[in-house]
Amino acid sequence: MRIRDALALAQALGVARLDAQLLLAHRLGRSRAWLLAHDDDALGETDAAALRDGLRRRAAGEPLAYITCVAEFRGLALAVSPAVLIPRPETELLVEWALELQPAEAEVDVADLGTGSGAVALALQQARPRWRVTATDRSPQALAVARENAARHAPSLALAQGDWWGALVGRRFALVVSNPPYVAGDDPHLAALGHEPRAALTPEGDGLAALARIVAGAPAHLEAGGWLVLEHGHDQAEAVRACLVRSGFDATSTRSDLAGLPRCSAGCWRG
Ligand SMILES: C[S@@+](CC[C@H](N)C(=O)[O-])C[C@H]1O[C@@H](n2cnc3c(N)ncnc32)[C@H](O)[C@@H]1O
Repeated sequence: MRIRDALALAQALGVARLDAQLLLAHRLGRSRAWLLAHDDDALGETDAAALRDGLRRRAAGEPLAYITCVAEFRGLALAVSPAVLIPRPETELLVEWALELQPAEAEVDVADLGTGSGAVALALQQARPRWRVTATDRSPQALAVARENAARHAPSLALAQGDWWGALVGRRFALVVSNPPYVAGDDPHLAALGHEPRAALTPEGDGLAALARIVAGAPAHLEAGGWLVLEHGHDQAEAVRACLVRSGFDATSTRSDLAGLPRCSAGCWRG
């Protein structure tokens, strides 16, 4: 099989050309530009077999990141497995906002609740080496992936397992961020996300339960003047801000992602 035959096979299976190129480039450890210049090269039998398998999985709807076991988030190449959500570009808004909320040089304690692959915590720890970042998750399998990513990108990242604040008993932070599961349990979009862990996507019900638990527990875990920043669904901003106000938060506000959708809300705990 030559490279051009592999791309023809992808087309026959209904796999997008870009996905096929990315699969092939990943498999061969080459760039897409290299592939274009070598489309007459023959693939070895092992590479050809691996590519056929990858294309079939992609044609069956499996996300590319689970086939290559890598996803990119804010310039970090992160290991991913079906135990973790594939980090989304929209979540960069949560990171950008969090980076503004404490001074870069301050030695502050920061937590990321529900870290999955570790994407948010690692992006913060890389950008702010002086911050002491702790990443939590209820899933031991997810934490194993986050640990692998931390070893590669930010070995000082601390990890803790538990059910939301249960992982951080007795601790207070200057900044807490979270991208919790927030899709409603009956949302039809869940069907297309069947390869990702359901517990990472939805807390079931109306989708607000995890956000509400995080907000309710936050006053006992924030320092005076500390911030809580949450990612949520585009139609949940008002409910999340109301929840923050009910729990005594001040300076509540919402920011929109690049698509203009209200995506993150934050509040300050005055103590
Ligand atoms: C939407 S994913 C976010 C993953 C990652 N922070 C990101 O942005 O890519 C939500 C994460 O919350 C975790 N989670 C779900 N329920 C939890 C709970 N009760 N306590 C702690 N973590 C939980 C899931 O395992 C999952 O990793």
